[in-house]
Amino acid sequence: MKRKTSSDWNTMGPRTASSPTLAGFKHPRWDDSTSSPNSRRVMMPTGALGGGSGRSGSEGGSANDLVMLQQRRNLPMAAARPRFLSEVAKHETVILIGETGCGKTTQIPQYLHEARLEAPHAIAITQPRRMAAISIAKRVAQEMRVSIGSLVGYKVRFEDCTDTVSRLIYLTDGMLLREAMLDPLLSRYSWIVLDEAHERTISTDILFGVVKAAQRERRVTTTNLCPLKVIVMSATLDADKFSDYFHKAPILFVSGRQFPVDVRHVRDSQDDWQSATLSTLFQIHQEAPERHDMLVFLTGQEEIETMMRQIRRIAKDISGPKMTLLCLYAAQQTAIQQKVFFPTKAGCRKIVLSTNIAETSLTIPGIRYVIDSCRVKAKVHQPSTGLDMLKVVRISQAQAWQRTGRAGRDAEGQCYRMVTRAEFDRLPKDSTPEILRCNLSNVILQILSIGVKDILKFDFMQRPPGDAIEGALRQLKLLGGVDDQNQLTPEGKKMAAFPIDPKLTKMILRAKDLGVTEEIVSIVALMSGESILVTPTAKKEEALNSRRKFVSSEGDLITYLKIFRAFKSSNNKDQWCQQHFVHQRNMTFALEIRKQLIDLCHKLNIPIQSNVGQTDLIRRAIAEGMFVNVAKLTREGYYVTLDSRQQARIHPSSVMFQTKPELVVFTELISTQKNYIRNLTLVDANWLLEAQPDYYRQHRIVTGD
Ligand code: CDP
Ligand code: MG
Repeated sequence: MKRKTSSDWNTMGPRTASSPTLAGFKHPRWDDSTSSPNSRRVMMPTGALGGGSGRSGSEGGSANDLVMLQQRRNLPMAAARPRFLSEVAKHETVILIGETGCGKTTQIPQYLHEARLEAPHAIAITQPRRMAAISIAKRVAQEMRVSIGSLVGYKVRFEDCTDTVSRLIYLTDGMLLREAMLDPLLSRYSWIVLDEAHERTISTDILFGVVKAAQRERRVTTTNLCPLKVIVMSATLDADKFSDYFHKAPILFVSGRQFPVDVRHVRDSQDDWQSATLSTLFQIHQEAPERHDMLVFLTGQEEIETMMRQIRRIAKDISGPKMTLLCLYAAQQTAIQQKVFFPTKAGCRKIVLSTNIAETSLTIPGIRYVIDSCRVKAKVHQPSTGLDMLKVVRISQAQAWQRTGRAGRDAEGQCYRMVTRAEFDRLPKDSTPEILRCNLSNVILQILSIGVKDILKFDFMQRPPGDAIEGALRQLKLLGGVDDQNQLTPEGKKMAAFPIDPKLTKMILRAKDLGVTEEIVSIVALMSGESILVTPTAKKEEALNSRRKFVSSEGDLITYLKIFRAFKSSNNKDQWCQQHFVHQRNMTFALEIRKQLIDLCHKLNIPIQSNVGQTDLIRRAIAEGMFVNVAKLTREGYYVTLDSRQQARIHPSSVMFQTKPELVVFTELISTQKNYIRNLTLVDANWLLEAQPDYYRQHRIVTGD
């Protein structure tokens, strides 16, 4: 392995006030002299501990409780508590800005509860990620010394851990949106805390409009509900747009604890950032003192697992402290993820490989080094085609600074960026909100089912471009979800009830007519989580051989179904998964989703029917749901997507990589250097023509061009 010498790095020089270290450049010292004058800004005091009623019984208890209590009291948020409470008492909406880790998510709901402000209803705290919602709820339950699911609960897709007595409810933004569909006034809540607002996920963006409307309704109409209070929390400074949207709500700043971080950029551009990351990681590992922990930002589960194996292999021959190697990504079990919070043992170094989940949602103690790939896997949408693609893209400068900040929580730190200084300067300053980059069909279904009559007049905080809304409406019309007046059809209502892409719901609805709901629900469940197959590079042949008996010439989705059936009927699941290189955790997750989907089908009077031998019926249901994702083989040997007319190749992981059938539907188009289509199913042109005659005549499915 090529070792990096420090001369490979563009060092940014000593930490002087003028050097762009985190302290000098971005360090948010929130006092009047450094922040720009703004009458809406209220500075929060720091230093003195804010009083607390201790209503949750946080005094006394075991040594562990005391440590936790001390930790709570030391959080920057604690000093700001009295000021926070007096501001929220005065205003209907408040914007709260505080550095990641200062205690917003865990403390704010507790402060409201301790001050008895939540009565008569509950506090909802939204999170963009299910894993953060679960782990933070558990932490808060622990701090309050109650069992999870009682006073403190969480609600995420496919899992409800709340009770009628729950008062602090952590839930994903998507989940709160679903609640708003049934109850637009959000009458279960006195407070809505929209957390991680800077992430600007689609669901949070819609929620801005939903809670604003609910506030107005509860204010002006004579309901017996209390006024709805809203707190918008963000880790970045650009709070003015939130404030403007909520009738110039006051902005509260709380200063964080941030030590200086030295930032270094690679001198030369890195196409292979994984290798550069590895060599940097080992260089630091050999040179840095023990218990100086490291956090590495990568793009996804697969990349993390690959790098983990590489690190383990290389580490055998390398000196340095003992490594505690951990990973952090969305599809992980909470118990495993919880390990990153444990303090590092003497003689060890914790190395955490994470997706952008550690950027602002979770704070890992002990981190002194950050290695930042400066990349993220993001959903990217093309309004012209209606397709969403998962794509590895560069992050924004704002995100890079957030990641850098993770190295300066406990002491001075260092951050190594896998982009050159010039590349960094060319990164966009802020990330584009998801609502401006993604397929809006789900968004529109959700907004319509909340009772919004005219989608074109919805009070978006940032309105998506007209052609994106038009494109999504077009797709929904083709799927039969909205009518020509842009109103929900009965079918559209069903689509909105399922927490999945409308194309997948369409598959289920078609499966009902074809008598194969059991099979389609299983396939949809398998498509809803992370990959169920493990194919380690070192054992690729062995893995493929072990699964060969399941491979179907009808495509990947039918192959997954066969694997799923075999898994379900196996007696020893551990052994079976190991033998067939199947990811047991992801498979179990799919099984759980399947159960939830079946429950939903029962509620919507969709019978669960199975027709085992009839794979053509299964493929037909898939085709009719996924009909905008058709690709056709060209004479030149590549594929062209019929809707968007893009060139693509079959992904090497597909069972159809060699066979190259004439016509397929795919569930995913991945765009790296080339376009790849994934998760394929063989389809018959006649089915598509029968189901969507006008559409397919227009898209020339029959003629061989
Ligand atoms: O929301 P914000 O980023 O402001 O901070 P938070 O999530 O409320 O976390 C406050 C502190 O609690 C952080 O410093 C975390 O390290 C700690 N924490 C923890 O130790 N274990 C958890 N499961 C969650 C948070
Ligand atoms: Mg937080």
